[in-house]
Amino acid sequence: MKKRIGIITSGGDAPGMNAAIRSVVRYGIEQEMEIIGFERGYEGVIEDESYPLDVAAVGDIIQRGGTMLKTARSRRFETLEGQKEAAATLNRHEIDTLVAIGGDGTFRGAVDLSRLGIAVIGLPGTIDNDMGYTDFTIGFDTAVNTVLSAIGNIRDTTSAHERTTIVEVMGRNCGDIALYSGVTGGAEYILIPELPVDTEAICDKISEGMNRDKTHNIIIKAEGVDIPSQELADILQKKTGKEVKTVVLAYIQRGGSPSAKDRMLATLMGKRAVELVLEDSGSRAIGICGSEIMDCSLEKAVATRREADLELLKLIDILSK
Ligand code: F6P
Repeated sequence: MKKRIGIITSGGDAPGMNAAIRSVVRYGIEQEMEIIGFERGYEGVIEDESYPLDVAAVGDIIQRGGTMLKTARSRRFETLEGQKEAAATLNRHEIDTLVAIGGDGTFRGAVDLSRLGIAVIGLPGTIDNDMGYTDFTIGFDTAVNTVLSAIGNIRDTTSAHERTTIVEVMGRNCGDIALYSGVTGGAEYILIPELPVDTEAICDKISEGMNRDKTHNIIIKAEGVDIPSQELADILQKKTGKEVKTVVLAYIQRGGSPSAKDRMLATLMGKRAVELVLEDSGSRAIGICGSEIMDCSLEKAVATRREADLELLKLIDILSK
């Protein structure tokens, strides 16, 4: 009997999800497996919105953002009844393992399904990089590069008009997008949800710069920081007497063609998923540690909190002049 893999993408889309689907499908078929795609994440499993994926079905997608399988956040799947319906669909299709590509919500769903006897392999697909068991998630690198490109444009205007601009980036409760784009984009100040906001310190930094005839500043603020961007802008403008603007990047940073790094990560993780199915590993979470693709239990993956790299934050303070 051929092994049969089900595959979904769930939660927020992330660049590289398509590259992961392609890898699972083509490597799986090479290993004599059958692959069934379910659309719209767990919702599509409940509704059985499925179709077989062959080699041709995943052609011309490696370079595309979004996900060819569509994605959703399913309310029904949060209930035991919904989870049982999803399990029944998968059993009806005689799926050996479901490969679920998504973020922490997707992984929590995977744990629920595995408790109902379904083997689920989780691939971390989210721009947020908020999953502590893996160094990087699929989509994060692309999002950071997109933010960098936006910072480049914003810097021109900020500098020309001698302003301070607050650039709000995504990341939910995780500051990694802000941290990485701030370090690599030469931001003057970075605000992450993991630390309290110190408006005095930001004003001091701006004033310090003004004393050196520096007339523009870029502040990267993660969306999870506990103060609305416009409120912060008003406070800073009042205290420094300089014009402060805000830019919310929103979905601009979630779509787009995946970077080489994300395509590679997705491709290697997809291959590993197929290998785990071959080994009858049962439910696992796939990640990367250093340059090694690794796997651990889904329970460990959801329980591992991501810690912010505070050393990087210190470095920004030293380097941003
Ligand atoms: O998880 C990805 C993400 O883009 C977060 O950074 C953000 O908080 C959230 O999704 C927004 O979700 P929605 O798709 O509901 O707008």
